[in-house]
Amino acid sequence: MAKSRYVYSFDEPVDGGRELLGGKGVGLAEMTALGVPVPAGFTVTTDACRAYMTNGREVPDGLDGEIDEHLAALEEKTGKRFGDLESPLLVSVRSGAAVSMPGMMDTILNLGLNDEGARGLARSTANERFALDSYRRLIQMYGEVVDGIGADRFEQALGDLKSARGVSQDTDLLAEDLRGLIDTYKRVYAEETGRPFAQDAREQLARAVRAVFDSWQTPRAQVYRRANDIPDDLGTAVNVVQMVFGNKGESSGTGVCFTRDPATGEPGLYGEFLANAQGEDVVAGIRTPEPLERMQARMPRAYAQLLETMQRLETHYRDMQDIEFTVEDEELFLLQTRGAKRTVAAALRAAVGMVEEGLISREEAVARIDPAQLDQLLHPMLDPAAEFSVAAQGLNASPGAARGAIVFDADTAEARGKAGESVILVRWETTPDDIHGLIQAAGILTAHGGMTSHAAVVARGMGKPCVAGCDALSIDYDARTARIGEHELREGDTITIDG
Ligand SMILES: Nc1ncnc2c1ncn2[C@@H]1O[C@H](COP(=O)(O)OP(=O)(O)OP(=O)(O)O)[C@@H](O)[C@H]1O
Ligand SMILES: [Mg+2]
Repeated sequence: MAKSRYVYSFDEPVDGGRELLGGKGVGLAEMTALGVPVPAGFTVTTDACRAYMTNGREVPDGLDGEIDEHLAALEEKTGKRFGDLESPLLVSVRSGAAVSMPGMMDTILNLGLNDEGARGLARSTANERFALDSYRRLIQMYGEVVDGIGADRFEQALGDLKSARGVSQDTDLLAEDLRGLIDTYKRVYAEETGRPFAQDAREQLARAVRAVFDSWQTPRAQVYRRANDIPDDLGTAVNVVQMVFGNKGESSGTGVCFTRDPATGEPGLYGEFLANAQGEDVVAGIRTPEPLERMQARMPRAYAQLLETMQRLETHYRDMQDIEFTVEDEELFLLQTRGAKRTVAAALRAAVGMVEEGLISREEAVARIDPAQLDQLLHPMLDPAAEFSVAAQGLNASPGAARGAIVFDADTAEARGKAGESVILVRWETTPDDIHGLIQAAGILTAHGGMTSHAAVVARGMGKPCVAGCDALSIDYDARTARIGEHELREGDTITIDG
């Protein structure tokens, strides 16, 4: 019997498409073939994940060997060694199912670093802050994803450090602060798991791959699948991708962009960018990002290349794309492209626009509209004749108006929503773990995050009103009160939002 194959490099041709490689893997392979700048890497197939699940969470025979071979090829391609102590190859390990499930499964960045390697990376890049920033992120993501440590343990330590230093942004922390933070994180890791943080790069990789397989089964992923009619037995692929670094300083950064406006479908530039940051900072809504256009002044060459690449990808896929990118020292890399989740108004507008531009036919345009989504157009809206005063403004992240009682956490939103009450989930930002609350809420209001934050993306997908990045909103979760501009509000008070 022919040995089954579970691993494919981004640059080798494969049959099987997104069912086998997952949407992210297929996109990375296709972009590589198009000559778009994508870091090198390989995909472990959904077959491997299904074998793992049916095998009582044991990886199938031969998988570890195949991963080793592909890692050796990656070392060859990049000229760096995984686990090297001076100038190590670092990788991300990323989930990627056949059907898009935004942010529902797990990803770990900067894999392959350890104490000695972080010192080496600081020396070889002459950038200690960058090396330590990468290492603290690894310990946190690995601790959360592989060992199930609560994010709050790390967030608390980071928050405490920022208050002690009197700074508001992660980027204001200096190398010496980060050194202390890493010690704290390693202590948290050891307390929670009873063992020290793994120093062996291969052990990190092996456990990360298994953890990403396991992330298919997290409660939030299951809830999302049920809400979106996605079968439970598909499994996820795992992408191992050479790291490129947006956190090297002010000429580096990371962002998300759409080839058209995902709320209206209007052509034109649409996206968000954060300088000196790594990917998840934008999606998680930790810092409110800048509009994409600001990149032009900071890094004109990468910006021009990004615009050209967006155009190419839209023409290639003949559909509106949602793109993740990173700039490392002014060099552009694409990390993901997928069909953009959009409101139905945007779907209509974009389809008409693409017919006018000769990109698709009229028949294709009609087929692009999901009939079930059309009811979004009939969304409740505020009575245009009504008189009201606006308490505060944020970003119109997902259209429609909603009125309901304020709730401050997903569990309460779920309980009261299921009981038939109209509730508005009000949070600093939402995370994928809030999915059960988002499903039951009539609308979502967040203080942080932009149009590509988790709350915004999920709300648009569900056709639910969402206002994000409302700066005038502050929340006291313990007292269960919020302040919006002048107004003091308590849980249960009624508010109206218009997305
Ligand atoms: N090798 C890499 N180099 C630099 N950034 C990376 C790399 N791999 C992933 N990222 C970034 O890390 C973030 C998280 O990655 P990933 O796309 O795997 O998950 P996600 O965006 O949270 O969820 P989704 O599964 O919906 O894409 C993204 O912003 C991505 O661009
Ligand atoms: Mg992504």
